Amino acid sequence: MAAVAALAGPEAAGAVDWAKVQPKKVMLMYPAQTSWERLMTRERHSGARKYPDKTCFGCHGNIDEHPLGDGLAHAEKYKEPTPIAGKPGALDAQIKTAHDKDNLYVRLEFSTANEPDAGMDKDFDTKVTMMIDDGNVTEAGLAGCWVACHDDAASMSRGRENATKYLYDSLVENAGRTVKDQAALEAMRAAGKYLEYWQARLNPGAEAVAIDGTILEKRADNMTPVVQAEATRSLAGVWTVTFTRKLLAGAGYKDIVPGKTYTIGFSVHAGHTAKRFHYVSFERTLTLDVGKADFVAAAN
Ligand code: HEC
Repeated sequence: MAAVAALAGPEAAGAVDWAKVQPKKVMLMYPAQTSWERLMTRERHSGARKYPDKTCFGCHGNIDEHPLGDGLAHAEKYKEPTPIAGKPGALDAQIKTAHDKDNLYVRLEFSTANEPDAGMDKDFDTKVTMMIDDGNVTEAGLAGCWVACHDDAASMSRGRENATKYLYDSLVENAGRTVKDQAALEAMRAAGKYLEYWQARLNPGAEAVAIDGTILEKRADNMTPVVQAEATRSLAGVWTVTFTRKLLAGAGYKDIVPGKTYTIGFSVHAGHTAKRFHYVSFERTLTLDVGKADFVAAAN
């Protein structure tokens, strides 16, 4: 079954005439240990005072934040205790979207030519991740990926080994880090109150490995991914990565339908990095065909 699905993917993505689709630039910034908790502390982040009246992108989206990323990549110890020598502070991706009657296609192009080898992830050179929400995780629409990023995740300031991303709503209110019981979590899942992610794991010259999964009380990969990924890397170090995702992928996946606005976010682990040592985008929006969104995926 899986083999058949994998074969169907590349043909489908190949059907999109990408030359006709206008790219949009998305800056992905190195966040160091900037967690949700730190961002919501007024003394640590002046943006906390105006959030959520203003969203993250509302403040950060309209200015050049490359210097902010550069600062964080080589920041004071309390922000970045283990800097990677020579790490660029940001990564610019050119992103295109399209769809046909069955699939959504998302294509990213970015360079990793100047990335030092951090030697953390021995298996993969680069990992590209896209997060998507359909409006059911309210705060994701205001803050994108950052809602899932907490200071007790592994490699963060109060990190616990193997702790992953999670949503605050998966915790019992006013009970520290106590996770809700299974029945409550199942009810949240049934109501779509989780984030979905797609990831392409890459090595130059090799087939992309695609995974997908969800974030609720933890990050959990799906057993058999629906998402497919293709990737090539040019000699100059430019990756072209295309995700193909069925619009209606069944239980455990968000339906991608016209008339709805989705929040999306991107991350790239470049130079054999792992965990928090990635580049992250601020929140963006996606619709199919029409609407006011950063990405309006047109029919192909
Ligand atoms: C009202 C405007 C505003 C909003 C809203 C805002 N920020 Fe900021 N942010 C700033 C400013 C200004 C700085 C510069 C340093 C400072 O004041 O903390 C900053 C700094 C940062 C930094 C660097 C932190 C550091 O320790 O150097 C990160 C990362 C960041 N913001 C991410 C976010 C995210 C994610 C959100 C949404 C949850 C957000 N910001 C919302 C204005 C804003």
